[in-house]
Amino acid sequence: MANRIVLNEISYHGTGAIQNIKDEVKTRGFKKAFVCSDPDLVKFKVTNKVTDVLDQAGFAYELYSNIKPNPTIENVQTGVAAFKASGADYIIAIGGGSSMDTAKAIGIIIKNPEFEDVRSLEGVAPTKNPCVPIIAVPTTAGTAAEVTINYVITDVEKKRKFVCVDTHDIPVIAVVDPDMMSSMPAGLTASTGMDALTHAIEGYITKGAWEMTDMFHLKAIEIISKNLRGAVANTPEGREGMALGQYIAGMGFSNVGLGIVHSMAHALGAVYDTPHGVANAILLPTVMEFNADATGDKFKYIAKAMGVEGVEQMSQAEYRKAAVDAVKKLSTDVGIPADLKAIVKEEDVTFLAESAVADACAPGNPKDASLEDIIALYRSLM
Ligand SMILES: NC(=O)c1ccc[n+]([C@@H]2O[C@H](COP(=O)([O-])OP(=O)(O)OC[C@H]3O[C@@H](n4cnc5c(N)ncnc54)[C@H](O)[C@@H]3O)[C@@H](O)[C@H]2O)c1
Ligand SMILES: [Fe+2]
Repeated sequence: MANRIVLNEISYHGTGAIQNIKDEVKTRGFKKAFVCSDPDLVKFKVTNKVTDVLDQAGFAYELYSNIKPNPTIENVQTGVAAFKASGADYIIAIGGGSSMDTAKAIGIIIKNPEFEDVRSLEGVAPTKNPCVPIIAVPTTAGTAAEVTINYVITDVEKKRKFVCVDTHDIPVIAVVDPDMMSSMPAGLTASTGMDALTHAIEGYITKGAWEMTDMFHLKAIEIISKNLRGAVANTPEGREGMALGQYIAGMGFSNVGLGIVHSMAHALGAVYDTPHGVANAILLPTVMEFNADATGDKFKYIAKAMGVEGVEQMSQAEYRKAAVDAVKKLSTDVGIPADLKAIVKEEDVTFLAESAVADACAPGNPKDASLEDIIALYRSLM
């Protein structure tokens, strides 16, 4: 079977990139933007950085900000109604994964109204039409939702986060401007950065990985490992590096899938509202140990990309341990908790594991994980 790669039509990278939005809107003849962002980003004047550009150019827009972290079906449905009332013809998503994912779901439903219940979009949704054109401006580094064909929505009633995979939702334009990320506090920079590292590592060892995605993922692991500490310290180089590294990871994993770190993290997000990056960061080293014997020599290249020296002289057991240790060290250095003790309650473990097994990311894991395996993985961190 042929491999498939889906990417943005155009992407802009680097400080000041948001200025390119003006020409894009003009050239494409867009009339009115539906701006999707979250209330904190509006409050902290991050959203304004982009709406100021629209104001200066005299472009019309309407703001929709009823979006919470781990966005819900309700956030999508009220967004669909607001879009219809707005008379907008394109979307500008400004935010982290939550704003960008909500924008994708809204844009898909507007053009494919038979999916207005939202739940029916789970998995690979058979939509017929491309979504409303989206210009995606990430403010975290991050989910890379600006270049992925995925979005993740929370079903509050069923306590589940579900992943939707659809080539029709790819943002037409990504604007990856590190200045949009500079206001992130250290803890958020650390957790979203570890989400990006998780994408790169899970994408590199996932079942569908191939040469081209390996290239993206190894480069992403290298750039993220080199720059995450600096980004947490808010250095301009660190911010630039993370903006780029997380995007490159997205170019890869969006096209091949992830694994059970994400499946298990989605369950934690749904039940406890755990921030996505925190959940991934805590789970990643433990799941890497579980997966190690199904990854051939790939942990050698992960360790090398993370800057571990002497990898070529190491035995298989040594380089596998070195890769896991490098992840643990980075996670500790940026202040991520080492376990799930403060998060998971014993009585929820079976439900969490059942959700993780049913998650769309699970089949991509390099090693098949049973319900019992996943229960044991959660327990090992409690
Ligand atoms: N689409 C995908 O491919 C994909 C991949 C991974 C994760 N996700 C999903 O994305 C969501 C997580 O997104 P996220 O980690 O980017 O966080 P987020 O969008 O949930 O934002 C978290 C918090 O950080 C704040 N914030 C964001 N940027 C900021 C900035 N520059 N300055 C100050 N505060 C800022 C927000 O206001 C919010 O309160 C989860 O629902 C996750 O499942 C999607
Ligand atoms: Fe993620």
